[in-house]
Amino acid sequence: MTFDVNAIREEFPILSRQVHGKPLVYFDNAASAQKPDAVIDAMANAMRHSYANVHRGLHTLANETTQAYEDARESVRRFINAGAVDEIVFTKGGTQAINIVAAGIGASIRPGDEIVLSIMEHHSNIVPWHFLRERKGAVLKWVELQPDGSLDMDSLAKQLSPKTKLLALTHMSNVLGTVPDAKTAIDMAHAVGADVLLDGCQASVNLVVDVRALDADFYVGTGHKIYGPTGIGFLYGKKAKLEAMPPFEGGGEMIETVSRDVVTYNSAPHRFEAGTPPIVEAIGLGAAITWLAKQDRVAIHLHKQALLARAVDALRGINGLTLHGTAPGKGPVLAFSLQGAHPHDLAQILDRFGVAIRAGHHCAQPLMSHLEVSATARASFALYNTAEEVDAFVQALSKARSMLS
Ligand SMILES: Cc1ncc(COP(=O)(O)O)c(C=O)c1O
Repeated sequence: MTFDVNAIREEFPILSRQVHGKPLVYFDNAASAQKPDAVIDAMANAMRHSYANVHRGLHTLANETTQAYEDARESVRRFINAGAVDEIVFTKGGTQAINIVAAGIGASIRPGDEIVLSIMEHHSNIVPWHFLRERKGAVLKWVELQPDGSLDMDSLAKQLSPKTKLLALTHMSNVLGTVPDAKTAIDMAHAVGADVLLDGCQASVNLVVDVRALDADFYVGTGHKIYGPTGIGFLYGKKAKLEAMPPFEGGGEMIETVSRDVVTYNSAPHRFEAGTPPIVEAIGLGAAITWLAKQDRVAIHLHKQALLARAVDALRGINGLTLHGTAPGKGPVLAFSLQGAHPHDLAQILDRFGVAIRAGHHCAQPLMSHLEVSATARASFALYNTAEEVDAFVQALSKARSMLS
């Protein structure tokens, strides 16, 4: 297989548009990625030709749609190498997937039980654990970082104890790009009897994920960052772990029987999919994964790493610019601060040059306070980005710097 970035770009209609009269340079991929025709067409096609509600249907359209929805579940299973399709729960995104686990394990949390998490987590992988602190008396234990943004494994070892119920860890930081040694972290947590949830919202598009090799108990992903639609994500859970958790929401689909006096619940994954699910979105996610699986993932990885290296080299030459996160093997996410320039001003000026970057706390306030900043600018790269775009970004950044100084 070869990787031809220009051919890839042709498949993303939005990339041919202009912003403020300049070609769009979209470097906000860690927030949400653009969609290829394969995804747009699959969703339009589902709504145009084969749409109905899923499950229990007795007519052709319901059967076809159920098949497409369940095929998408199988695509997710293959994508992360889960052992069984009923270990994949469709959710409305990464956030909901983590909340399902928090509510599920929360049922058995006792005061003093500990949840271990790193200080580079996204708020989605922090706030649900704060709920357990507030409501159940759980204790949150924080794992620190090395100066380059790597996970401090000694700090992890110190925080884990027989009181640890769960280690909740990002598989790739959305700010630093850090990819922790998840397998070692999981083995360490298992050794004290804790379960592990990996937040793969950034990792699943940038790494080839194998939940069985990792031995993760829970793994979370989100559709809109893997070139799929919004409104859909997934929760992987080992079958026994999912079956041990009470349902998250009550309603149709998640029950086995309902009477005036009692209710019994469906088995996983349907137990966690109350109500009409995001059907078209699931089909779109399946299409995104199928599309991605056809690409050369190794070549894509090398391409994104080359873009990152080019950007890092150029930014290192800019006086007063600090890069946040330089851990070896980091993902294609580049957070930075420029002395004398507020990140929001930078992002707004870059937009005038057609360059889309993000500025803010990136839903990672504990990390911001560790970095002693309130916000950073962030450029993040996807498979459709080019070296020329990196150069345009660097040029726009230099201009922004002169405008602000
Ligand atoms: C690391 C990480 N975790 C969780 C999330 C939340 O995902 P979603 O927006 O799909 O709920 C994000 C999204 O930015 C993320 O980057």
